[in-house]
Amino acid sequence: MKIAVINFSGNVGKTTVARHLLLPRIEGAELIAVESLNADEGQGQALRGRQFGELQEYLQTVDSVVVDIGASNVEDLLGLMHRYRGSHEDFDCFVVPTVSALKQQQDTIATVAELAHLGVPASRLKLVFNMVEDGVEVAQAFDTLLAFIAEKPIAQANTGCRLGTNEIYQRVKGTGADLEALARDETDYKALIVKAQGTADKLALAQKLATRRLASGVVPELDACFVALGLGTGLARTALPVPRQVA
Ligand SMILES: Nc1ncnc2c1ncn2[C@@H]1O[C@H](COP(=O)(O)OP(=O)(O)OP(=O)(O)O)[C@@H](O)[C@H]1O
Ligand SMILES: [Mg+2]
Repeated sequence: MKIAVINFSGNVGKTTVARHLLLPRIEGAELIAVESLNADEGQGQALRGRQFGELQEYLQTVDSVVVDIGASNVEDLLGLMHRYRGSHEDFDCFVVPTVSALKQQQDTIATVAELAHLGVPASRLKLVFNMVEDGVEVAQAFDTLLAFIAEKPIAQANTGCRLGTNEIYQRVKGTGADLEALARDETDYKALIVKAQGTADKLALAQKLATRRLASGVVPELDACFVALGLGTGLARTALPVPRQVA
């Protein structure tokens, strides 16, 4: 499974979606960050948009990859995909995270329109509605974008592909932490807090406890969003054994 995470807009959650929604749920996948600067979380390879040739070659050598395309490289990359005809076929799917601010909805429309223009079929072009507040309907918050898709069904817009606003993403940013591992952490922080001597130590432990609670809450939401995306791989971590194909 090879997935590109893309949007002309910055700050819509491309890196968050790549790292926390997709990477942990696609078996054996590695993360490639196409950023102008070094990869922002210190992991994965940093590639420039103009090194697209190398990226394409690399894609031929791996089975599963999530490519996080920094906003500053999207235009470059799409231009190169146009030049290297058919290169979009290297990806099984383009995941387009979006947020509800009007400018971002408009940029998202431009992004899916450009990808469709390159020849990416709607079945491979999927929106993720990010930073949706509790109690808010996706249909309402993203009305501009959804009206466009209703008129031109060039992308999949499943309203189940939604992620709430959650401070966990900010908390773990740059740490390389895996949310499911954090949620599974069985440390008895309360006991440790009682035993800890100084206030600073107690606070540090309290922070870890809070992070675990947030992680426990967000993992089921990420699981549900991933299922709604329908990438067809199942959950890597909880996957039942897949019957082997006999030739
Ligand atoms: N669902 C969410 N809830 C809360 N914060 C979020 C959520 N998604 C993303 N963020 C935060 O918003 C900021 C932007 O997210 P992110 O870095 O994933 O966006 P991006 O599209 O990769 O941006 P860029 O174009 O700069 O690469 C980050 O600080 C991230 O932690
Ligand atoms: Mg990013």
